[in-house]
Amino acid sequence: NIQKHLWFCNSCGNEVCTTIWSSYHPLLMDEMKEIAGCKFFSLTETPEDYTIIVDEEGFKELPESEHLSVAEATWLALNVVSGGGSATNSQPIGVTKIAKSVIAPLADHNISVFMLSTYQTDFILVRERDLPMVMHTLSSEFTLLRVINGETVAANSLGVTNGFVKPKLVPRPIIHPLSSPSNMFCVTSLDPDTLPSVATLLMDVMFYSGGMKEPGASSEDSGHIRFFSFSLIEGYISLVMDEQTTPRFPNNVLFTSASGELWKMVRIGGQPLGFDECGIVAQISEPLATADIPAYYISTFKFDHALVPEENIQSVIGALRTNESAGQ
Ligand code: ARG
Repeated sequence: NIQKHLWFCNSCGNEVCTTIWSSYHPLLMDEMKEIAGCKFFSLTETPEDYTIIVDEEGFKELPESEHLSVAEATWLALNVVSGGGSATNSQPIGVTKIAKSVIAPLADHNISVFMLSTYQTDFILVRERDLPMVMHTLSSEFTLLRVINGETVAANSLGVTNGFVKPKLVPRPIIHPLSSPSNMFCVTSLDPDTLPSVATLLMDVMFYSGGMKEPGASSEDSGHIRFFSFSLIEGYISLVMDEQTTPRFPNNVLFTSASGELWKMVRIGGQPLGFDECGIVAQISEPLATADIPAYYISTFKFDHALVPEENIQSVIGALRTNESAGQ
């Protein structure tokens, strides 16, 4: 049951309609990593709404409001600290490297996930109540560590008997409609020390630059869409923005990966996807992993968004279309 709330953005006193997740604890795999303060904040703007993901401390700061919808479950954020794919692979990035080892097995066990790719890593959010099943599913391949109040502890098997889980070889049809907006995106980062110098600009980009539709957007796709994602997680900042927004930032403030590639988006969902359905991320990420195409994946309150290198968009659409289930 979704409640509505209104959120006043602390830093600007600005009224923002948002959606929110109520909790966060990182669960780390493979390697130990200390996380100071367990801070997690992410805000993504889409044409429909703003999606916020915050940790418990952040959630307490949010005033009640009728404009804020809250997903009722508590979610835990997992990330794969090192590896996730075999070392012989050509260093796939983003969800591609965890598609077969993490995302597909979770889908096969009917575990609903919620994805947040950032410049630095990919978070897989799972419902806290699904944790025993998540651990059962992943413990054969991963060392599971949990960070609780800043302390990293081994996550024990919680009494679920383990067994090797065979990868599913049956096809995974795509069941939600796909669209590809015309704009291109950059996945960037920012030194947290420079955040104050661009704070006003960020507010402007996120909340005040509405309706900047590109006149030349072609009609054979769904046109230009507004999409901006900001996250500040464990002291790392990640920004996903329209390529036309990057020139608004001062020179040399934004970092991009060495190749500095541009990304095109595949938007997943006609009706809002909800939070219970599983396998959506797997349906998209598995074919990308098979084709060795890097991808970022950002879930929002209503829809999912995959970002793939601009030069691969046609082959991605082609590959995903052949997986579309009959009757769609
Ligand atoms: N739960 C979906 C899955 O397991 C992904 C999230 C879709 N829902 C959403 N509100 N974006 O694949």
